[in-house]
Amino acid sequence: MNYRAPRGTYDILPEDQAYWRFVTEQTRQVCELYGYEQIDVPVFEQTALFERGVGETTDIVEKEMYTFLDRSDESMTLRPEFTAGICRAYAERKLHGRPQPLRLYTIGPAFRYERPQAGRYRQFHQVDVEVLGSQDPAIDLEVMQVAWQIYEAVGIKGLSFQVNSTGCPACRPGYIQTLKSWYEQRLDGICGDCRRRYGQNPLRLLDCKKEACSAMADEAPRIAKSLCNDCDDHFGRLRSYLDALDRPYEVNHRMVRGFDYYTKTVFEVWAEGIGAQNAVCGGGRYDGLIGMVGGPETPAIGFASGIERIILTMKQEGIEPPDTPKPSVFVAYLGAEAKKAAVLLAQELRTAGIRTAALWEDRSLKAQMKQADRLGAGCVLIIGEDEVKDGVVTVRRMADSTQATVPRADVVEAVSGGDAP
Ligand code: HAM
Repeated sequence: MNYRAPRGTYDILPEDQAYWRFVTEQTRQVCELYGYEQIDVPVFEQTALFERGVGETTDIVEKEMYTFLDRSDESMTLRPEFTAGICRAYAERKLHGRPQPLRLYTIGPAFRYERPQAGRYRQFHQVDVEVLGSQDPAIDLEVMQVAWQIYEAVGIKGLSFQVNSTGCPACRPGYIQTLKSWYEQRLDGICGDCRRRYGQNPLRLLDCKKEACSAMADEAPRIAKSLCNDCDDHFGRLRSYLDALDRPYEVNHRMVRGFDYYTKTVFEVWAEGIGAQNAVCGGGRYDGLIGMVGGPETPAIGFASGIERIILTMKQEGIEPPDTPKPSVFVAYLGAEAKKAAVLLAQELRTAGIRTAALWEDRSLKAQMKQADRLGAGCVLIIGEDEVKDGVVTVRRMADSTQATVPRADVVEAVSGGDAP
């Protein structure tokens, strides 16, 4: 029986890790620069949390969740995103009792049963950033700034920021009515999916990618004209901050996002050239969600960015991460006595914090040198029978192939800078 990784999942092999390490480290640094604290929430939650939080008629809940009955017959779901879980934690762990707003971030895997393609997986990874407990548009801006700065830190340039306001429970129903009345005369011109959306989730009519539907959505009434004073003022202030910062962005009237929890600000970041799945980041304000999952009414905003899509964009732009650390030294030996001395030396080097590699397979010196070279070790410490007898170690510097004989007692000190003497 040959086993395969499940469709839509993949292994992150050692040679791919440099990107992952770089992106996650840069992300952590940027989040901490802005004063965000790390939180981790469970990989699975009660199914009802996502049904209620993300929304029963969303694609995620209708078609994409990994849901199972556990051994107590309770329905559980692998998290398709982090926001609902973080809001659950905020309510359950009474994080509203802490100084507000609370700035949080997390990094980890999420799961959606989607049709796999480039940049779209069934197990993928998100950097998720949330601010809970503030309604101020300056916080919306701050959250967007965190995203911008993460992309800057990893060196990505060609991104486009898309912003919109999706209104609130006071003004959105009026807009939906306007939208439905407008579409009522035009149902023959839209696709089957859109006709279904017309009945269930009319806002999603606006982001259909099919040509005819898309052309029609361009003509459809815009939400900007239906926003209540509060939403209009909020969006106006956010735009004025964005203008002042001189960050390029576009107001995209058709961007509604695929979750029911959004209110007011929504935004996405798009990258050219990574295929149909070009959203590197998506987010928005969700002022009603915490109340909906059992906490006090609390305004909040956040975003998530797919790590795979960040890496795809980096590759597309030719950005290479710094190399992962290589061993400083490689310990080589010849003969049984020397092997014992080499084992002890390697232990001493590692205790001193020096990255040390060795091949304990009793291979020829040539084979050991080849391995040291392959690993990119800075120098090789050679112990043969003569070295054991004389109480010395031969130190070979790989960069220029020079050799020196160093007393055994001095060798750790001699290589502790990562360089041979
Ligand atoms: P989302 O737009 O569903 O939003 O996902 C955010 C990002 O996750 C996407 O822009 C994309 O980069 C990545 N992503 C999503 N699905 C996949 C997939 N199947 N394969 C690879 N990457 C994927 C959310 O998840 C919201 N919870 C964001 C948020 C946080 N809103 C407020 N706070």
